[in-house]
Amino acid sequence: MNAFTSSIRNPDHPVDPVFVERWSPRAFDNTPIAEADLLSLLEAARWAPSAANIQPWRFVIALRGEPAFDRIVESLSGNNKLWAGNAAALIVFASATTAVWPGASEPAPNGLHAFDTGAAWASFAIQARKEGWHTHGMAGFDRDALGAAIRLPADHAINAVVAIGKVGDPATLPEALRVREVPSQRRPLSETVLRGSF
Ligand SMILES: Cc1cc2nc3c(=O)[nH]c(=O)nc-3n(C[C@H](O)[C@H](O)[C@H](O)COP(=O)(O)O)c2cc1C
Repeated sequence: MNAFTSSIRNPDHPVDPVFVERWSPRAFDNTPIAEADLLSLLEAARWAPSAANIQPWRFVIALRGEPAFDRIVESLSGNNKLWAGNAAALIVFASATTAVWPGASEPAPNGLHAFDTGAAWASFAIQARKEGWHTHGMAGFDRDALGAAIRLPADHAINAVVAIGKVGDPATLPEALRVREVPSQRRPLSETVLRGSF
């Protein structure tokens, strides 16, 4: 396990170290990511499970330096706008909200689109960490502005924007964010697992 996270995060039970080594920094250095490397990480997301194998997820990618990247940054709100522009790439995890279910001929609402796209994002984040990258999910964005920026089709939803990059020097962050630049903790698993019923 890497020394930084292992000094801060202690799992309650044995687990692959990658799960505790994944955390969400805001300080990114200026290392770029090649499109091929980003696609390799999204390959992990592609193989996530989904209800009826509908694969509702859609990934809108933008590399730093591209106009689409700047448009996504512009749609972010609050503090996100201050740091996310230093990421190597931004990925909008969107999803189709309707699907043609097995045996049906017409699209119907898919109430599981967000759950399934969450599984895809988690796979992406873990694969990224394994390859030396850090990711940071964001729900802080202007939904209308981002929808317009990525030309979100009807019957689609935006779930989150994810920043990816190499972790940078916290000193580059504004003071208020610098003090938060540390891996967070979790409540004990015993407070989360319920045996048989609530
Ligand atoms: C869907 C989602 C939305 C989030 N939105 C934001 C956000 O808008 N801004 C931010 O700084 N962090 C955001 N986060 C990061 C969480 O605060 C962070 O994942 C959580 O505190 C756990 O910390 P860790 O990822 O470092 O383990 C978001 C995370 C997720 C999964």
